[in-house]
Amino acid sequence: MSDTRTSQQWWEETRKDPARLRDWLLDQYRGEATAAGRIEAFRDAHAHGQPRAHRVLTVIAAQERQHATWVGGLLRARGLEPVVQDKAERYWEQPLAAIQDLESGCAVGAHAERMRLERIEVITSDPEAPEDVRAVFQRILPQERFHERAFRSLAGTEALEATREAHELGRNALGLSP
Ligand SMILES: [Fe+2]
Ligand SMILES: [Fe+2]
Repeated sequence: MSDTRTSQQWWEETRKDPARLRDWLLDQYRGEATAAGRIEAFRDAHAHGQPRAHRVLTVIAAQERQHATWVGGLLRARGLEPVVQDKAERYWEQPLAAIQDLESGCAVGAHAERMRLERIEVITSDPEAPEDVRAVFQRILPQERFHERAFRSLAGTEALEATREAHELGRNALGLSP
């Protein structure tokens, strides 16, 4: 992939390009809007008989649904229709294939949340970020931090290591540097 860059570079390029910013916000909407269902399906498949994991995954899914509402509101206020576009999931192919059980699935979730956190942290700490975008991601940020911590704790070190390569492959597919 020739298009390897850091989150900081990515944001500098995205911030000044309205079409790219719009596409990224629509991607965020899609990610948030589909996350809850994905997490609940994963919970139902792998967390029965594990009350703590079941409870935590239920909370995370509810928060993802809330994020979809917030990002949807942001898009509407910008005159954009929040729609889930049907397009290739460049990141997810390898990580999803690495899910075998509760631990590996939570590890995949932890890696993905961590990657998103890097971008959200860049945006929320940029005083020149569009105010409406910054405000929404400042609300989302602490909850995504909680998701990353919770997934990491449910996963354990071994599963985090075992899924690292699949995460890096997904990341390469997005053109992000390690
Ligand atoms: Fe979210
Ligand atoms: Fe999340």
